[in-house]
Order: sequence, then C-alpha cells, then structure tokens
Amino acid sequence: FHLDIDPAQTDKGAYPYYMLKEIDEQAVVARTLAGHYFNDEGEIVGIGCAIGDTIKQADRLYIIAAGTSYHAGLVGKRYFENWANIPTEVHIASEFAYDQPLLSEHPFFIFLSQSGETADSREVLDNIKRQGFPTLTIANVMNSTLTREADFALPVLAGPEIAVASTKAYTAQIIVQAILAYSLGEVELDLKQELAKVAVEIQAITDEKATFQAIAESALKDQHSAFYIGRGLDAAVALEAALKLKEISYIQTEGFAAGELKHGTISLIEEGTPVFALLTQAKTAGLLRGEVAQVAARGANTITISSKSLARPDDAYVLPEVDELLMPLLAVIPAQLIAYYATLARGLDVDRPRNLAKSVTVQ
Ligand code: G6P
Repeated sequence: FHLDIDPAQTDKGAYPYYMLKEIDEQAVVARTLAGHYFNDEGEIVGIGCAIGDTIKQADRLYIIAAGTSYHAGLVGKRYFENWANIPTEVHIASEFAYDQPLLSEHPFFIFLSQSGETADSREVLDNIKRQGFPTLTIANVMNSTLTREADFALPVLAGPEIAVASTKAYTAQIIVQAILAYSLGEVELDLKQELAKVAVEIQAITDEKATFQAIAESALKDQHSAFYIGRGLDAAVALEAALKLKEISYIQTEGFAAGELKHGTISLIEEGTPVFALLTQAKTAGLLRGEVAQVAARGANTITISSKSLARPDDAYVLPEVDELLMPLLAVIPAQLIAYYATLARGLDVDRPRNLAKSVTVQ
C-alpha cells in the first residue's frame, strides 16, 4: 500500500522534528474536528444516521486497535459507557484475531487506527465480517483498507502523521470517539463548546515547552527506568505516556493503574527513580496522593501532573481544567513533550526510533 502524502502538508518548516510539529498541531486538530462534526448550532452533522441507528441496536461495543490507537480506545470506552450507556470492551487486535473471546448477542465493532492498514486489525475485521456483525472504522487515513472494508467509516482528520511516535492521532481519535458517543446519548455537556476550550488549553500547554524540557532533562537524562501512574482515565493515559517515553527515549517505562503498585512494582523503586503521577480524576485523587507519598517515602523522584482543582503546591505541573472526562486530551500533552525532550537530551533521533515502523502491515 502507499500513503498519499501531500508534500506541502508534511514540510517540517521551522521544526527540528515532525514529532514536535505534530504535538503542536493538536490544538488545530481539535478545532478542525469540532468544525467538521458540528454545525453552527452545535448539532452533530458529520455522522450519518445509519451509524447511530446501527449502534443503537447493539448490546455491546467492541473496540479493536493496536498500540497508541488501543490506548485511545481505552479512553473512548468511557464515553460510550458514560454518555451513550453502552457496555464497551477494548481489545488488542493481535490478541483478538487469534483468540476471539465470547461475544454478546448483538455486538458492534469499532476499529481504531491511524493508518488504517495495521495487519492485526485487518485480520480481526476479516473475521468479524465473516461472522456478519456490523463494523465501523475510525481512521486517520481515509481510503485505507480498514476504512474501505468496514460498513462505516469516520475520519480522524489529524492530517498526515510522520513521526513514528503517534501524538495527534491519539488525541484526535479520542475526540472522534467522544463525538460519536455524544451523538448516541443525551448528555448535559455542550461538547462543541468544550472542544473549543480543549483546543485553547492544549495550545496553552504546548506554549510551555521550556517547563517540560526542564522536567525531562532533570528527571530523565541519566535514568534507565521510569514509571507513569494514575487511576481511572489517568491509568489509561499513563499507558500511553509510558509508551511515548519508552519507544523514543529507550528508557524502560511502565505505565499502570496506581493501585497495582503495592502488588509488585513498588519493589523497583530506588533512590531517584522517576515516578510521574497523572492526577485529574476527583474520585480517586486522594488514593493517588497516598500512592505518590508511598513511592516518595521509598526514594522516588515524584513528578505530579495534576488538574487545577486537585493541585497541591509541590506539583510539577498544573493542567488547566476542562470536563473531567476530557482531561486525557490535556494530560497526555506534557507526557508527549517530556518524551520528546528526554529523547532530545539523550541525543537520539526523535522521529525514527530503532526497530519501529510507522505502520505495521505484517502480522
Ligand atoms: C505502529 C505505530 C504506532 C501505532 C500502531 C498502530 O506500531 O508505530 O504508533 O499506534 O502501529 O497503528 P495504527 O495505524 O493501526 O493506529
């Protein structure tokens, strides 16, 4: 397959690396998506009725994806459950393809993919089509195999993503899932307006690069391992944050649900081990504060990234606030920038990490 990339759209311009350019583009992408999927009255126009009607007949959603797209699915699950009231499972394509779990009676499948070409996801789509269940692909590359072969397709509209480490496709996939879930339910929130706020705040965070460069240089330059912890939606973001850091800086990084610390990982904490805590969910903020204190007591260098209403004076960075369910769109930005600057500080090629491909078209 080939990617149709318009060279004018892929110029790095003044940026040293595509990754930094793509991180910065996320505010614009949020606005583009709001403009595409909503009309001026704030009504959803970019999703055909047939998609909603078909999903409403389903008793369960199955999100299938790989890598960063899988992590975006973990966030999307919350929108389908909280806003559309449909039980949702998220599955790793390479697992589901060869070991299909028991399905509900009326499943609906959502394939999430930046490239639309990932072989494992294509394998699942083939299997599911053979079983006759309805399918939707949400992808950044329209006209890709996954968008052509599913019953329905929705565009992610992030524009070409060149850096191997996915950034804007992640936030854009989250936004499209939010809009789709919103279209299926009756939600109090004005999502269009909230997305406008998200765009403004993403911009504000990306304007503070020096802060994240300083954090990356002081906490990560000479480290071999690091951790990202969180609870609830922050645990989902912690997985993506850890993937970003490890895949380009080669610092072995684990991201996980903070409550699991005491079941094993805490034994890895040494003097100076960097532990990033993402703290944006009110329900579990108190518990997470306790976990941060526990690792700090064992010598960890704790770096807490909190949202404004949950912040404490010692936190390394305080995020602006949007609707709590949309906080992953903001919480991931510092992690992307920290990964970028840690990699730069270690003298590595940010855009082309060893052994990795942008699109994995083999099983
Ligand atoms: C590769 C890329 C990742 C991506 C994953 C899934 O491993 O390096 O950035 O998340 O594939 O790709 P997809 O195109 O399906 O989102």
